[in-house]
Amino acid sequence: MNIVHVASEMFPYIKTGGLADVVGALAPALARRGHQVSVFLPGYRAIVEHSNLGSPLERTQRLRIEMGDMFMTGDVREFSPEPNLKIYLICREEFFDRKLPYTNGERDYEDNHHRFIFFCKGVIEVMRRLELEADVVHGHDWPAGLMPLLLRVEEQRRGLNLAMRTVHTIHNIAFQGLFPMKSFYRTNLPDELQGIDGVEFYGQASMMKAGIQFADRVTTVSPNYAQEILTPEYSSGLEGVVQQRVEDLSGMINGIDTEVWNPATDPMLPGHYSAENLGGKKLCRAELLKEHGFDPLFSGAVFGMVCRLTEQKGVHLLLANEELIEQSKCKLIVIGAGDTRLEEQMRNFASRLSKQVSFTAKLDEVGSHRVEAGADFFLMPSLFEPCGLNQMYSQVYGTIPVATRVGGLIDTVIDIADDPENGTGILEEPTKDGFARGFERALKLYGQRKVYTAVQGRGMKQDFGWEQAVEAYETFYEEIV
Ligand code: ADP
Ligand code: GLC
Repeated sequence: MNIVHVASEMFPYIKTGGLADVVGALAPALARRGHQVSVFLPGYRAIVEHSNLGSPLERTQRLRIEMGDMFMTGDVREFSPEPNLKIYLICREEFFDRKLPYTNGERDYEDNHHRFIFFCKGVIEVMRRLELEADVVHGHDWPAGLMPLLLRVEEQRRGLNLAMRTVHTIHNIAFQGLFPMKSFYRTNLPDELQGIDGVEFYGQASMMKAGIQFADRVTTVSPNYAQEILTPEYSSGLEGVVQQRVEDLSGMINGIDTEVWNPATDPMLPGHYSAENLGGKKLCRAELLKEHGFDPLFSGAVFGMVCRLTEQKGVHLLLANEELIEQSKCKLIVIGAGDTRLEEQMRNFASRLSKQVSFTAKLDEVGSHRVEAGADFFLMPSLFEPCGLNQMYSQVYGTIPVATRVGGLIDTVIDIADDPENGTGILEEPTKDGFARGFERALKLYGQRKVYTAVQGRGMKQDFGWEQAVEAYETFYEEIV
């Protein structure tokens, strides 16, 4: 099949969260199964300058994109990291030559709508010029939300066939790409789409709504989240729109890239290990403690947490349990960046509990691998979690997840109290008390060495590899085409 992915992140070129890991694993996996795969990404500075790409990428095409009553220029750069896989960058320095993809570190960029309207239109223009008649055009999250609409309108206008089917995947419905309706004319889409049956969401235009409403099929990243987003509690106001598409909605669980996330081979770790031989994990633990200023021989439980610092990740549930943490024999190593207010709160928390807590406020890929490997438990007190990858990484790294009963966490972690024979982690409610219960259960488990080791061993034997997930996507594409 000829498959086009449209996304704003792809590991290893640009990453702010799990979306990058998913696109970075799914696209090559499809290519290796013999499909022709094209991935379109914005030409972010980080990609254009990515060290592994060798010499600077040459421009291969000039773009001239209609944006309302004016035209904007841009260009295209491309490379092929492996056979059957082509990556196209839609470039315009004014829009994408920036340090971070969506925010200036504090606030969303004010021109995000211009940036992603331009991006989607650029993708369509390149598809048209290259006659990339796709079987499936698969857009990810709000940055690609306008793709189905723009694509079909372009096809009608020019009498072309650009895509057999369009798919929109919701990785996180809480981010919607809202923009002022007065800028809608920049899309050059028909005015009637400004209404409630179009892209309108409480007076604004919503790119996420556009994707959900107008793609041929809608998917999300776990079966449980597919159910959750039908309800007001989890849909950030879009439950009505999702409900309308329920017949065309499916939840497919993400996989993990076992070439990148494998404790036996991970080059970022100081030691290597497997379920059969855990020796290297001890070294990883000692090094992690040392790196963060603690006694490498500390005998209590070591908790790790790596996440975007946003409300979603339940950072405030951790902060609300300061007293419990202070009274427990434990260390806590947190790596997280994002919301500046939460960063500040975490910094203060870590300085008050400096004997126990280490906090690093940055995006640290190497650090995240070392936490996964070196900790005894991985904390994920998410309020909601469409899929979540860290709970899977931690299981295969022999680090027991302590997570919440939401979204994809339910689909990928078996609570040891619910099922002592097969349990792989701890699940509790996403509340202050739920956090405390999970934390205390973990401490208790840490004291029961035999049970701990059995749970750890089961986690390490879980198969979260992309093979199953890719097969599911492949079957899905075949069905819809
Ligand atoms: P989300 O996509 O909501 O952020 P996921 O669990 O799906 O959550 O994926 C998060 C990914 O981003 C993981 O690979 C995680 O290790 C990584 N990550 C998040 N924050 C950081 C950070 N500060 N440094 C390094 N990696 C991070
Ligand atoms: C989103 C979600 C996360 C999911 C990731 C990849 O960022 O918050 O739960 O794992 O996308 O699909």
